Amino acid sequence: MALPIAPDDPLVAAARAAAERAWVPYSHFRVGAALAGPFGVICGCNVENASYGMTLCAERTALVGAVAAGHRRFDRIAIALPDSPPGSPVTAYMPCGACRQVLAEFVGPDFPVLIDGIGEFRFAELFPNPFVLPNR
Ligand code: THU
Repeated sequence: MALPIAPDDPLVAAARAAAERAWVPYSHFRVGAALAGPFGVICGCNVENASYGMTLCAERTALVGAVAAGHRRFDRIAIALPDSPPGSPVTAYMPCGACRQVLAEFVGPDFPVLIDGIGEFRFAELFPNPFVLPNR
């Protein structure tokens, strides 16, 4: 069940700004993500490639950028998909399965996921059964 997002939430604004930096010559579908933690905010956007399968999603560029900068603790993430037409189904706004699994490496079930135009979810609502190696 999505909770409402404050209209002036700065993390959502950061995700919207990040979407403006997307490199999307193939899909023309921009996505922005903003991760907040004790370090502040680190953003990502989708970066497409002529070899389509090399495309990187916004959520993962934000996460790997943050981890590469030395951060492993995160408070919440905001995602903006400004090219989903108004009135699109909720599915047009949801993070892909690959990004959910990658987020699961670093966030817990209560981690807040703010999806612009939709609302705020707990991570476990979006990805209740992540794969976890049995020896961890
Ligand atoms: N995309 C993301 O950035 N995040 C998602 O969770 C879903 C899809 C991007 C990948 C591609 O550049 C474009 O959206 C269309 O699939």
